[in-house]
Amino acid sequence: MAYVEWSDDFDVSNKTLNDQHKMLLDYINDYDQAFADEAGLGTMSEIFDKIVSYAAMHFEQEEAYMESVGYPGIKSHKHIHEQLVARVLEYKKQLAGGDRVVMKEIRLFLKNWLTGHIKGIDTKYAQHAAHNDAA
Ligand code: FEO
Repeated sequence: MAYVEWSDDFDVSNKTLNDQHKMLLDYINDYDQAFADEAGLGTMSEIFDKIVSYAAMHFEQEEAYMESVGYPGIKSHKHIHEQLVARVLEYKKQLAGGDRVVMKEIRLFLKNWLTGHIKGIDTKYAQHAAHNDAA
């Protein structure tokens, strides 16, 4: 069983953004697998860097989408994205030390971020877009 699995709870009713969330999920599962395989720092950093850069691209596109649907919560959502980016950049520095405890902490952070942020925060713009479509 994968570390994080897609479910309808993640659905934000936008194919591009859903696909990007699924890709992030795949990368997080890659990170988990590499950690379980006791991969070295090079592999762990490579996967983590992919997640960081993919997430940055995703945040940009998601913010453009929120703008396009006139989502009123965009400012606080952008702020949460900025906080997440700051957190992963901090982890990137810590990971460079090659500490397995940090690798494990990142693994849990990524899972909590994916599930918590998409289900709890991202789905709100989907509800707004659906409501506006119905109006
Ligand atoms: Fe899908 Fe707000 O990140």
